[in-house]
Amino acid sequence: MQNFIIRGGRPLKGTLDIHGAKNSVLPLVSAAILLNGKSVLHNCPELSDVTAALEILKSLGLEYIKQGSDITVFSKKPDNCLIPDELMRKMRSSVMFLGSILGRTGKAVISTPGGCMLGPRPIDIHISALKKLGAKVTENHGLLEFEAENGLVGTDIFLDFPSVGATENIILASALAKGTTTIHNAAREPEIKDLTDFLISAGARISGGGTDTIVITGVDSLGSTEHTVIPDRIEAATYMAAAAATGGSITLNRVNPSCLTSVNEALKKAGCEIISDDNTITVIAPPRLKAVKSVETRVYPGFPTDAGPLLISALSTACGTSVFNETIFENRFVFIDELSRFGAKINTYGTVAVIDGVENIWSAECNCTDLRGGAALVIAALKADGISKIGNICHIKRGYEDMPENLRRLGAEIKEV
Ligand code: EPZ
Repeated sequence: MQNFIIRGGRPLKGTLDIHGAKNSVLPLVSAAILLNGKSVLHNCPELSDVTAALEILKSLGLEYIKQGSDITVFSKKPDNCLIPDELMRKMRSSVMFLGSILGRTGKAVISTPGGCMLGPRPIDIHISALKKLGAKVTENHGLLEFEAENGLVGTDIFLDFPSVGATENIILASALAKGTTTIHNAAREPEIKDLTDFLISAGARISGGGTDTIVITGVDSLGSTEHTVIPDRIEAATYMAAAAATGGSITLNRVNPSCLTSVNEALKKAGCEIISDDNTITVIAPPRLKAVKSVETRVYPGFPTDAGPLLISALSTACGTSVFNETIFENRFVFIDELSRFGAKINTYGTVAVIDGVENIWSAECNCTDLRGGAALVIAALKADGISKIGNICHIKRGYEDMPENLRRLGAEIKEV
């Protein structure tokens, strides 16, 4: 088990470049299956989830080359349509290969998705949408088989909930389908528009990416393209929350501030000064944050569920009581028991967490439970005086490239053992 050892208690100061978005590059690697020729992706982060996605490509018979932050996929029709069970279990987002494999080959076989412990991660919205596009779904021996022997046919799809993954799967499945698909109540996260921009650059006919209504008119084939992945807004939110928690002041480069307005608003309410221009954000934090009376996670452009643990951790030493309501994932608070080891005073009532800000938290030993919960523990360790040890950091490596190196660049004392 790998660990971070962190000596906390001092403000973060300095400048950092933010990497490409994990939750954008994963669907883009899947979308490469729909193309013929070379798909070149720039600004890809070095993450274990990206490695897992590339392993899935390989298992489907597609070759790729990874050079630094560039990934070149030699796109073609997959040799098979099964996502191996061990790769499905590695990460939940492997479900995103469902739409592209089905859309390209007319068949896809997956096992129930794995991933972090954010609660039952159903894929009912994905399944009902793909059925509407003409896929027949059968289950046996824990495998789900999707088949559309005459190909998928476009139609109107109304999402009960604007699921990010389901929206992405429908776009992937519709790009080569017959006719037109309209997604109503589509997810509006920036990563959706990044996916539609990529597909349009390869010849797809799509409008409305990033809005709640997306129209996809199927085409016969898609060709080579080159695309730069958008910045990771949650990685940016993570370092912003770490600066806020430690009374620091940092500048982040290569970000898109317009994707972070809800995070900026919350940090301003907590007493931070936020200065941003086209692609940088500067956070100047007070010595001690003010409590934020109430924060509620919402689908984009609301406050992102992924930034919830980060803000909860920063507010654990704020002056006053903050109330946090998580409306997206059931088990988003699974990290709070570990956070309490630092002396944080947090009570949870179902989807509500009440954070009674304490003057100081102390160093502690703890273990990551999930990706963003793990980042929340790092933020607490950076705040706490003394030396803390954080275990199970494999969770953190799923979504943060070179976190220790980045934090050292901001003056933190952290090492990996
Ligand atoms: C994406 O997950 C992100 N992952 C998540 O980031 C992010 O938290 C989430 O969107 C919300 O923004 C990737 O993009 C790889 P959803 P996804 O489908 O697609 C329920 C991270 O930390 N639901 O919008 O799984 C689901 O259980 C990760 O980087 C159904 O009930 O999110 C959840 O409660 C974590 N049935 C809610 O909807 C379905 O068929 C949101 O899920 C699908 C989803």
